[in-house]
Amino acid sequence: MRVLGIETSCDETGAAIYDAEKGLLAHTLYSQVEMQAEYGGVVPELASRDHVRKTVPLIQAVMAEAGLSPQDIHGVAYTIGPGLAGALMVGATIGRTISFAWNVPAIGVHHMEGHLLAPMLESNPPAFPFVALLVSGGHTQLVKVTAMGQYEILGDTLDDAVGEAFDKTARLLGLSYPGGAALSALAEKGDPKRFHFPRPMIDRPGLDFSFSGLKTFALNTITQNDSSEQTKADIAHAFQEAVVETLVVKCRRALRQTGWKRLVVAGGVGANRLLRQQLQIMAEKEQGSVYFPRQEFCTDNGAMIAYVGCQRLLAGQRNDLEIRVFPRWGIEEL
Ligand code: KG4
Ligand code: ZN
Repeated sequence: MRVLGIETSCDETGAAIYDAEKGLLAHTLYSQVEMQAEYGGVVPELASRDHVRKTVPLIQAVMAEAGLSPQDIHGVAYTIGPGLAGALMVGATIGRTISFAWNVPAIGVHHMEGHLLAPMLESNPPAFPFVALLVSGGHTQLVKVTAMGQYEILGDTLDDAVGEAFDKTARLLGLSYPGGAALSALAEKGDPKRFHFPRPMIDRPGLDFSFSGLKTFALNTITQNDSSEQTKADIAHAFQEAVVETLVVKCRRALRQTGWKRLVVAGGVGANRLLRQQLQIMAEKEQGSVYFPRQEFCTDNGAMIAYVGCQRLLAGQRNDLEIRVFPRWGIEEL
């Protein structure tokens, strides 16, 4: 089975083709980041309009790259939530329309399930069961994954998502949106001894997170110090260390609590170099292993949607002709 996947839930348009036997055949991505950076965040209406412009050309591009014509495609998958309602509607409408025109089944995909299963696109995919750390701009969750579609939330954020905390702190440091990767690059130049940020909630039992305090701590540190480039780098360093250590402590706790040895990390913040390195060290100490998608599949992409869509279509699931999207939708509801 060969499936066309479409992702339009936020500010990235992605298209990909996944083959159940041969794996990923082609994928492409267009990011609105530069356009949205001007506004300091994602403007939903602009995101939708841009998806309208980009989705069909990107689908044509992946079809050409894979050397396929419509009769070679056996199903169409598209993100139906969570995300921006208008943006989701674009991908869902285009995807459902193509599947109708090509007379193949359609399947709506949960964006976070896409992230969660993105490591399955790599050469040594994790076996079930595993613990997953989902860290993106909108989510910070520890998930107990028994099998595909069987998800139990072990821990969640009580306030800001970790990517949101990165972006807000980056903004305070004068970096442009979405600042996570830029903050991380700046942190490399920081002095590790200058500032120490608190590790929120690590001394309390449980697997929940809270990141809004760290952002406030960053704001206070910024206002109490000079605004030199070195000071900014030192603050970025201390912030990143605190976030990463907090995530590592909770991941270790989740592995011990479940007694499982496999940890999967997914979502945009999973691209963070320090996080990858520290989780690797922790997992080795726990005699476990950690699985990441390649960097480009940590952030939003069409490949993960084509993959999940293919698995669900193979399991016999299908969507009818009605086009519905679910802007707020928990992964445990799947
Ligand atoms: O998964 P994603 O592309 O979109 C959502 O579904 O939210 O995640 C985007 C988030 C942003 O907050 C971005 O700043 C963050 O991932 N991010 C990073 C890095 N690369 C992306 N955060 C920290 N370090 C990075 N290297
Ligand atoms: Zn995402």
